[in-house]
Amino acid sequence: MLFPEGVSVDGRTGEVSPATDRYTKTLADLRGFFRDSAKLDEMVATQGEVPVYEVIGYRKAESDLSFGTTIMSPGKVGDEYFMTRGHFHVRRDRGEVYYTQSGEGLLLLESRDGDTRVVEMKPGICAFIPPDWAHRSINTGPEKLVFTWFCATDAGHEYGEIQERGMRKLVVDRGGEPFVAANPNFAER
Ligand code: PA5
Ligand code: NI
Repeated sequence: MLFPEGVSVDGRTGEVSPATDRYTKTLADLRGFFRDSAKLDEMVATQGEVPVYEVIGYRKAESDLSFGTTIMSPGKVGDEYFMTRGHFHVRRDRGEVYYTQSGEGLLLLESRDGDTRVVEMKPGICAFIPPDWAHRSINTGPEKLVFTWFCATDAGHEYGEIQERGMRKLVVDRGGEPFVAANPNFAER
């Protein structure tokens, strides 16, 4: 039996209390996702464990709805901003909502047939992610990017496709501003 409860979500730190699960992805975990893999290796060798993002969840297996936060560090690998792995949902009929609470970034989305969209992430913007659009968040600012996500518990994460072929666009720093560029390594299948 499930009971109602108020869950505290700190919009600055991203802390969720009580939480059911959490994990951190470090630079070393993200090998293969950034364009400049030599730079990533060098950063791992010289800086050790660099946390890129943390995910804190409030999920109940018996409930259709889940939510939680993603807390993204500022940083870059070469000129490419820190980002999440990016994924489709296993269930193609499950969308998601990202509500940004602090920091600034871009949400990069891609449909199955290759349409690309970018939605700004900043406090007050609630990003609607339609079903079957791959999504990746990118911290383009100097501070932490913290957003709260709301998703169907059974949506599932499908990472393989994006990990293997990349996304069609990437976001790089051009003269101090984020620039959405074509991904030169994108492998059409
Ligand atoms: O379900 C989501 O879309 C988020 O909770 C993401 O999982 C989170 O932001 C981390 O990104 P990714 O799962 O692509 O590594
Ligand atoms: Ni998702």
